[in-house]
Amino acid sequence: MHQVEAIDIVRTFDARQVLRGINLAVGAGEMFVIIGPTGSGKTTLLHILGLLDGATSGRLRLLGMECNGSEGDHLELRRRMAFVQQKPIAFNMSLSDNIAQPLRWRGIDSSEIEARVESMLQATGMTEYARRNALTLSGGETQRLAIARALVTRPEILLLDEPTANLDPESVLCVEEMLASVVRQRETTVIMSTHDLPQAGRLADRVGVLVDGQLRRVGNPADVLEAVNRGGLNAASLLFC
Ligand SMILES: Nc1ncnc2c1ncn2[C@@H]1O[C@H](COP(=O)(O)OP(=O)(O)OP(=O)(O)O)[C@@H](O)[C@H]1O
Ligand SMILES: [Mg+2]
Repeated sequence: MHQVEAIDIVRTFDARQVLRGINLAVGAGEMFVIIGPTGSGKTTLLHILGLLDGATSGRLRLLGMECNGSEGDHLELRRRMAFVQQKPIAFNMSLSDNIAQPLRWRGIDSSEIEARVESMLQATGMTEYARRNALTLSGGETQRLAIARALVTRPEILLLDEPTANLDPESVLCVEEMLASVVRQRETTVIMSTHDLPQAGRLADRVGVLVDGQLRRVGNPADVLEAVNRGGLNAASLLFC
């Protein structure tokens, strides 16, 4: 069964079609990477898949459930998913409390929260900052925190919008290592956007090229990246050359 199934998704802003009939099916434990030029609709698509925005038309099924706009169902689904925004946010509290927060919202008991937070701090290499106010973190550290806060909930679907854009090489490596370990465990379905083609090659099971609101090509990373590099994908190849 597909964990994420989008059928003919259209999103219009002010009479302009930003997504023009997206069809996408992502299986359990798969890492699907969306590449595409700026303005091609990556964030818009991820927001719709993450139930942060509604499509103008089309159908969406998540975890086997039809997303028909019922708030109760959406709330339940959102609790089983996590979203890392393009511009990550930190709450005005300690790093540990930031990571613990989504578990508190879910009513998980405190000893379990403590154990999970501890292991996320280790995974992100930020144990020594545990008590620091998260607003004092650097951009790269805030990005790592946002990913830790998403992973700690053990989501069935994880959506990430350019999680390594503007990071220093060391933070990119750390984030990729965290994502690679999620992929290895195969317990989470991951959909991620990136501008970074080699990164798509390193992490993806499949890559989709989004150009001008349409998925122009979907396939295994080697084939898609070769097509992009050959210049066979017009607008995308212009950007990525
Ligand atoms: N709320 C909105 N109202 C009007 N237009 C919007 C809105 N949100 C996005 N758009 C437009 O939709 C198009 C796609 O935007 P989107 O943010 O999805 O692109 P993107 O592929 O994520 O770009 P980037 O790589 O720069 O993050 C852009 O032209 C953008 O200006
Ligand atoms: Mg974007």
